[in-house]
Amino acid sequence: MDYGGANVSKTLHVGHLRSANLGESLKRLSKVLGNEVIGDAHLGDYGRPLGLVILEIQKRYPDLAYFKEDYNGEDIDLPVTAKDLEAIYPFASSKAKEDEEYLEEARVITTKIQNHEKGYYDIWKKIIEVSKEEIRKIYDSLNVSYDLWLGESDAAEYFPELLEEINRKDIIEESNGAKIIEVKEEEETSPMPPLLLVKSNGSISYETTDLATIYQRNKELHPDEIWYCVDNRQQLHFEQVFRAWKKLDINNNINLEFIGFGTMNGTDGKPFKTRDGGVMSLKNLMDLVKEETRKRINYDIVEPDKVEETVDMIALATIKYADLLPYRATDYIFNPEKFSDVEGKTGPYILYSTIRMKSLLEKGKEEVKETYHKIKDNIDKDIVLTLLRLPIALTKSYESKSLNDITEYIYNLTSKYNKFYAENKVLIEEDEDLKESWLVLTSIVYKVNLLLIDILGLKVPEKM
Ligand code: ARG
Repeated sequence: MDYGGANVSKTLHVGHLRSANLGESLKRLSKVLGNEVIGDAHLGDYGRPLGLVILEIQKRYPDLAYFKEDYNGEDIDLPVTAKDLEAIYPFASSKAKEDEEYLEEARVITTKIQNHEKGYYDIWKKIIEVSKEEIRKIYDSLNVSYDLWLGESDAAEYFPELLEEINRKDIIEESNGAKIIEVKEEEETSPMPPLLLVKSNGSISYETTDLATIYQRNKELHPDEIWYCVDNRQQLHFEQVFRAWKKLDINNNINLEFIGFGTMNGTDGKPFKTRDGGVMSLKNLMDLVKEETRKRINYDIVEPDKVEETVDMIALATIKYADLLPYRATDYIFNPEKFSDVEGKTGPYILYSTIRMKSLLEKGKEEVKETYHKIKDNIDKDIVLTLLRLPIALTKSYESKSLNDITEYIYNLTSKYNKFYAENKVLIEEDEDLKESWLVLTSIVYKVNLLLIDILGLKVPEKM
């Protein structure tokens, strides 16, 4: 599974949230259903952005040892932090738009990195190291983890080998000094541009790194399938890459699947932005939701030293649940206030209800038996029937590669349970058989909730 796709030295924004969130949950679901899954962060660490960042560092710190003639491969700390790097990229990028010479310098540095030129290659590695730490922290806070932390650059190492293979197949064409692979099929009427394999300046494109990534994964991991959780806007890119791979005929037994997702919009229906119209970073988004959460937690029951941790867990559930609620490919509106509410189809509602189930089970601990044998009325029956539909929800989600069946299901089960809870006093029920059955029913609903909460990648606080 290829998901997350953070770019080194760039700030993670809301678009990266969807990829990480959806990907992590699909990975967990897939494992629960018995598959062996390997998750790869596939960092964007290749190409011009890094050239720009290094150029700007060189402008600001021309005396840095990495840029000196006599540089000898020693490990030197960067004069900038991971945070500074995130500010340097937008600066350099907008400068390059106005300054042709600056852009050209960045291009030269990009090629130097790709040619492993002493100094430039070393500072590039250092930047990746520093930036990766920062990215890892953010993914940790999202409860997202990876088996592999590979990047585009790791795949690019395979390019020469891949190129030999491509040359043998005789499928390359020349076009204005660039090397391309035609991927349009006969009689196809919709536009399908060729895959740009090598640019006229000799550097390789984003498509090529993805082609090389399939090559590398095929060789090292032998996957049956590769799933890509990426923004819908990259659909054409993947279509080109998949077709080129097919044309290469190296291994056509791998099922390559593009799992596209839509945009998270603000209440104005436009992509979620900061108040002053800037790009919403993932960190800003989390802070904003935490603010809403702080207004709502019950300070009488959450111990003071648990407040921060509790706020983190609830805010995470707020964001992730809302994000997994609609079918993945559709755009949706994220309303922080609405989704922080403890009522309705929200993460906090699911967490709150689950904590209440746990507390009931703790109170009735002595009496939770193994078997369920007595149904009182339609409410219990409805819960049992809903429980029986769990496998359907799981398989539907797996097939559509979207978590919406699961988020709907857990809401459905939880609200039915809550209805039952409101109408019955389990712990003081006099009919012992019934009480026992109700506790068993509660424990099953609780276990199912925990399973699904884990698939959704949420965490349950002690109290809230
Ligand atoms: N780094 C890319 C971006 O921010 C996403 C990577 C998606 N995965 C891939 N194999 N291309 O747009």
